[in-house]
Amino acid sequence: MINGRVFLTRAFAPEAIQRLRDEFSEVDVWEPYGPPTPAELAQRTAGCIALVTMVSDRVDAALLDAAPTLKVVANLAVGYNNVDIAAAAARGIVVTNTPNVLEETTADMAFALMLGVARRVVVSDADTRAGNWGLWHPTLWLGNDVHGTTLGIVGLGTIGSAVARRARGFDMRIKYTGRNRQPETEAAVGAEYVPNLHDLLRQSDFISLHVPLTDATRDLIGATEFAAMKPTAYLINTSRGDVVNTDELLAALQSGGIAGAGIDVTAPEPIAPDHPLLKQSNLVITPHIGSATHATRRRMAMLAVENAIAACSGGLAPNAVGLAP
Ligand code: GLV
Repeated sequence: MINGRVFLTRAFAPEAIQRLRDEFSEVDVWEPYGPPTPAELAQRTAGCIALVTMVSDRVDAALLDAAPTLKVVANLAVGYNNVDIAAAAARGIVVTNTPNVLEETTADMAFALMLGVARRVVVSDADTRAGNWGLWHPTLWLGNDVHGTTLGIVGLGTIGSAVARRARGFDMRIKYTGRNRQPETEAAVGAEYVPNLHDLLRQSDFISLHVPLTDATRDLIGATEFAAMKPTAYLINTSRGDVVNTDELLAALQSGGIAGAGIDVTAPEPIAPDHPLLKQSNLVITPHIGSATHATRRRMAMLAVENAIAACSGGLAPNAVGLAP
């Protein structure tokens, strides 16, 4: 039994919570559906040795200072841009993520958005429910093919390559860009490296973003990039909202600079209910549900819990990230 308290910022898979209860002497679970405020988060984290967080929880130096006994922040996500890892490292706190359990599920989501926007699944569903089917006509609800087109992947990591594997089944030409060329992955998924992002944008019918949010990728896609894309092309974003400039995405969608977009992430999240993006019929938008399947969320919860347990029992956390000591 680990002598100490863990705070879990949202109730997740019961078996994962049970595992925490089996291992830690005290388990505190945030029960409301909505997130704790920063003040509530600090108050509940104070005195804990472990904190299990969601991507929507901001873990910064002020929070860590409020919890001098903290040993680990186990983030329930593969991305960890919500955690100040330098501040954690400076305080000897381990930060962990949940890799290798959600990539296939997120790749499915990227494809769902691609098909959803290009084949007008969402608008035609809404029209049907609104009683607007009315008649079948050969010119109604026309979209664009996904199969046989060119997919440009930005970031051929584990999610990007899972998207590429799916694209092969759709007979797509697969191209990618990224900080480094990846000869092995490239050969495995049949992708062609395009060193320059703008060249990739010019050549692709679908652009799918799979980069982490860092200073280098913030606003990676803005007005200049939309101008480089074909007016018939679609942008798919299952990474982080801040990778795309929201105002410039809106402008590109409104002006027909691009054909459409499928996004699972926004900046900020959640998007305001009256945001003009939500008026765009050439946009499919979902509420950051890339990894949201029963099985994957269960696996993520178990992995976050195992990381918290390992870090607090003197072992090496299997998924420590970044600047962990
Ligand atoms: C979700 O956004 C993740 O990073 O896993």
